[in-house]
Amino acid sequence: MPRIANPYRPGFNQAPASLAGRDAVLAAVREALDVAALDARTPRPLVLAGGRGVGKTVLLGETAAIAADTLSWLTVPVEVRPGRPFTPQLVERLHTARHLYDQAPAGGKLMVSGAKVRATVLGVGGELDIVRREPGPGPAVPLEAALAEACEAAQRRGAGLVVTLDELQLAGRHELADFAATLQQHVGDDWPLVVVLAGLPNIRDSHRGVTYLERSEWHVLGLLDRAASVEALTVPAAAAGRPMSAPAAAALAEASGGYPDAIQVMGHHAWRASHGAARIDVSHVPGAIEAAEQDLAAGLYASRWEDASPREREYLAALAWLLADEEVVGGGAVARRLGKDTRKVSYLRDRLLRKGTVFAQGGGLRFAVPGMAGWIRSHVGR
Ligand SMILES: Nc1ncnc2c1ncn2[C@@H]1O[C@H](COP(=O)(O)OP(=O)(O)O)[C@@H](O)[C@H]1O
Ligand SMILES: [Mg+2]
Repeated sequence: MPRIANPYRPGFNQAPASLAGRDAVLAAVREALDVAALDARTPRPLVLAGGRGVGKTVLLGETAAIAADTLSWLTVPVEVRPGRPFTPQLVERLHTARHLYDQAPAGGKLMVSGAKVRATVLGVGGELDIVRREPGPGPAVPLEAALAEACEAAQRRGAGLVVTLDELQLAGRHELADFAATLQQHVGDDWPLVVVLAGLPNIRDSHRGVTYLERSEWHVLGLLDRAASVEALTVPAAAAGRPMSAPAAAALAEASGGYPDAIQVMGHHAWRASHGAARIDVSHVPGAIEAAEQDLAAGLYASRWEDASPREREYLAALAWLLADEEVVGGGAVARRLGKDTRKVSYLRDRLLRKGTVFAQGGGLRFAVPGMAGWIRSHVGR
């Protein structure tokens, strides 16, 4: 039997074969593009807020793909890096976008896909290489000018522009406020500009008072529900020609806890465990979960644990031990186990929720991936 490439995409920034359970966000993206493209207005910016691994970055990528496929619009993607301003890169990329639009033949259209841009005039295409170096805009070009030039170049082609800004929580307050003020100022110009921002849920507090963000359309991304988890597990397998049985998908979905990152890890190992078989069925599940848990322990669980402060670790350990006996464990129970007043430790719960290490669900708290509770119990005594 020929070996088929594994259709699952574990790891950050890896676009899944099936982007499940995000219809509301994708509808909002399409609507924003419609407002810009059809109504010729600048739509409200979208903010995608959620813990690590819920799928923010892949949604930004999907936004770019939709803009390219449906409108042939370019996307300027920027990822904020720790301790570094993002504006220079944004300006540089706006400059590139402007040149790409200007290079498109008059009356022609840009066909955007991957790193290549095809410019077509009445179906006759020429390739423009996106990596072709344009002379840089120079350090002095302010964001406002770069944005205006890019939007105007797009408009000359009957097109528009998408700007995505990822890891927004790393942006400096002042820099973000400047960025926001620039965009805000030009809302009345009706630029065909769609801005999508993504970051951890704490951006709401850390950037409080930035009106631009407050008037944005917020989408808080959480765990996938059971149906979406099953879809994310079964669709890639079926498309790759080795379908997954419903009981197998249910068991893997359960083990993943609906955490998108873990869904891909589970699917990846189920695929590996079923090499040579025509289907993925329940016989492959125990081995797949075991291998996936090992992966998650070495990666996700360990990094979340290392990222936690000593007090947060106490909180996590208390929650993990309570979950050994109880299905639903609330913040009050954790506080009692720690021998503290609930209000005194609620800041720890909030911090862990904001990081996406724990999630609130069904009146209780749970780990992003259920297996993390057992992992903590095997490391920290009762
Ligand atoms: N809706 C989804 N359905 C299935 N898998 C998803 C979904 N969203 C994200 N994933 C997977 O989850 C992982 C993390 O996605 P990523 O976009 O990097 O998360 P974030 O940017 O929020 O940290 C990737 O492996 C990706 O393929
Ligand atoms: Mg990301």
